[in-house]
Amino acid sequence: MEIIIQPDAAAAASLTARVVAKTLRDNPHAVLGLATGQTMESVYIELVRLHREEGLDFSGCTTFNLDEFIGLTPADPRSYHRYMTDRLFALVNIDTARTHLPDGTTGDVRAESQAYEDRIAAAGGIDLQLLGIGRDGHIGFNEPMSALRSRTREKALTPETILHNVSVFGDLDSVPRRAITMGVGTILESRRCLLLASGVEKAPIVAKALEGPITAMVSASALQLHPRCSVIVDEAAASKLQGKAYYRWVFENEPEWADLR
Ligand code: GLP
Repeated sequence: MEIIIQPDAAAAASLTARVVAKTLRDNPHAVLGLATGQTMESVYIELVRLHREEGLDFSGCTTFNLDEFIGLTPADPRSYHRYMTDRLFALVNIDTARTHLPDGTTGDVRAESQAYEDRIAAAGGIDLQLLGIGRDGHIGFNEPMSALRSRTREKALTPETILHNVSVFGDLDSVPRRAITMGVGTILESRRCLLLASGVEKAPIVAKALEGPITAMVSASALQLHPRCSVIVDEAAASKLQGKAYYRWVFENEPEWADLR
């Protein structure tokens, strides 16, 4: 795992977008794993800018999102499907037939989960998986005690996650209680993982996930098992990390990052 500390949230999001852009330029048919949440909004803004101003081409790529709320249609303004349409899919030259999110309206979550895994496998697996991190350490919607080898399935959201989503849904009763999410095992199978976290409120969970023990209590800690995982954090989210000086030294001296710094 490599940990890259950027001065602020904007710089962290911009570097994340540059990694995605480089992945696409190196392989126009890349399979991208996409994430939602507030942190990712600036990444999509930057990717749209790169498309408009620098011709970043999405026409050959395939995408798979991590998760979707159960019960919301793709058109629902609060769905992750709509989030992706509004922030990325409708604004770049992506082929929407090759964009995938779990179907939150399915009557058979088990079958949909298996079909989602099958679609990822048929696409050849995910080249680059973008990840945010929840305050309880979830990646996707893998809430605490998700099996470290779990696959796409239904998960009950924690009261903390439900509360956090009130700002999107307006009131507590409207927040869905369940979601379909790629499993921790599904995420670990992607060829590269890229986690982005910013803001001081993420500092405690970032330190637990990156420097604490690997535990199902903190799903993001499973990323320590991934052979190619990059974590981009701003100074605020990095503020509780113990190894900061070493991480900075590695980043400054890593040739792979030379043209992205
Ligand atoms: C939701 C998503 C996660 C995301 C998290 C962080 O819970 N299911 O995939 O990582 O939000 O969101 P934010 O960036 O808003 O803190």
